Amino acid sequence: MTALTSLPAWQDFERRAAALRDFDLRAAFAADPGRAERYSAAACGILLDHSKNLIDDAGWAALFELARACGVEARREAMFRGERINATERRAVLHTALRAPRGSRIEVEGHEVVAEVHATLDRLYRFADSVREGEWLGYDGRPVRDVVNIGIGGSDLGPYMACEALKDYATPQLRCHFVSSVDGWQLHHTLAALDPATTLFIVASKTFTTQETLTNARAARDWLTAAGGETAVARHFVAVSTNSQAVAAFGIDTANMFGFWDWVGGRYSLWSAIGLPIVLQIGPTRFAELLAGAHAMDCHFRETPMADNLPMLLGLLGVWYINGFGAASHLVSPYNQPLHRLPAYLQQLDMESNGKSVRLDGQPVDYRTGPLIWGEPGINGQHAYYQLLHQGTALIPADFIVALENPASPLGHHTILLANCLAQTEALMRGKSRAEAEAELRDQGLDEAAIAALAPHKVFVGNRPTNTLLLDRIDPATLGSLIALYEHKVFVQSAIWGVNAYDQWGVELGKQLARTIEAELRGDKDGATGHDASTRRLLEYCRQALRR
Ligand code: F6P
Repeated sequence: MTALTSLPAWQDFERRAAALRDFDLRAAFAADPGRAERYSAAACGILLDHSKNLIDDAGWAALFELARACGVEARREAMFRGERINATERRAVLHTALRAPRGSRIEVEGHEVVAEVHATLDRLYRFADSVREGEWLGYDGRPVRDVVNIGIGGSDLGPYMACEALKDYATPQLRCHFVSSVDGWQLHHTLAALDPATTLFIVASKTFTTQETLTNARAARDWLTAAGGETAVARHFVAVSTNSQAVAAFGIDTANMFGFWDWVGGRYSLWSAIGLPIVLQIGPTRFAELLAGAHAMDCHFRETPMADNLPMLLGLLGVWYINGFGAASHLVSPYNQPLHRLPAYLQQLDMESNGKSVRLDGQPVDYRTGPLIWGEPGINGQHAYYQLLHQGTALIPADFIVALENPASPLGHHTILLANCLAQTEALMRGKSRAEAEAELRDQGLDEAAIAALAPHKVFVGNRPTNTLLLDRIDPATLGSLIALYEHKVFVQSAIWGVNAYDQWGVELGKQLARTIEAELRGDKDGATGHDASTRRLLEYCRQALRR
């Protein structure tokens, strides 16, 4: 047994969850008229209704006790204080310092960091203003029209997701593009429509060693210099990184580099200079609102008792289903189209953080950890995979996210969107009994034999758990709060499971092998040895294709 599973609070939680396996949500709502109100909490422009979950007061009490027994609150304070909670990399975890107000103080081993954060933000804002106001000129004297962010993972997903979400706040003078894949197709089609003289590249890489990003950056540089010459690089390339040496070695003047710090994880970095595309698109004032929204959620997380604490509630509900009910996945279903990249963003945030099977104490876990996170805009999901949610065999807890105000969508459209979001969570919870299905078919005039044949296919067992998150609107502040809510949800779960949410050693092996295979494909290295038979055969197919 691990330090977690030997805890009395864990065993009590397991017993409570087992006792509620047959929990009947319809009956729970019927028996308790106050359930929806009691099982709701609100903060930072987000109302969380978590009443449609397979849990009761005793279940919640067991979860809160588990959180206390695991020291979630003490670990939360250690994170906010700047302790090196990322033990395997010996780093503090301080994305929260990136949104701390000017003048506040946070120290990493005696070194105050908030002043540095704001000094970098000021530089970033000055640069963004000069681009947005048309003062930053390209090699032929024209202002920037297109911004291409070259980065991958945390250096792409956050800024891309936020730029899409905040399109309503975008300046019309600039268009932001994102190139992440080393498949040259993406860069080719992005550049095909652009003019090098009015294009600004942001090379975004925390480490500045990421092969995909550097390969794309070199190709973009060639494209630019073919038109504008070597001297154009200084006006058309900026870098965002923690590695100034590598930036200089690449040929970008470090005067055009915006830094951040090793205590910012890649998937937690959109609040840093990695957010430059967002600043360019919506401007410094709006970006500051995004930061303020995230900070408001930080304060809520730090100060609010567990029963009303949104990140605690979401994190603990995840543990309830993953460890108490064996759920293997979690659906994120945003209904507003601006949030269409949110599931992809949350995949990295959650799965790269909690996709771990070894505890901080080095012991293998003897329980499930991070789930598979997946999703699409909910309205599209309804016409694709919701069938499985309603009538499939897997238990898939889900977050339904929708904004109450939606000024860019005509009222008629918005009403339909809201209706669908609410209807789906109701249908998932309520289901349809055999008797209800039969009565419906009888009303349609079917004979009894047809009813008997068809009715089993029309039954919905219901009792499928969902959270509903109602956002006031999708503005920078609320988006900041929403993202920080999920960051802290991931934190809560990592603290329960005793895993380090802030390293990602699991991405390394594939990278190592890719380097060897690349050399073999190029013919620099003999590929016949060292591989299994399957990889050897596939390698040979690829080699032959490359020779053609
Ligand atoms: O391979 C995974 C990863 O290291 C992520 O954690 C990170 O966000 C991404 O690659 C990009 O890394 P970088 O910003 O250093 O290029």
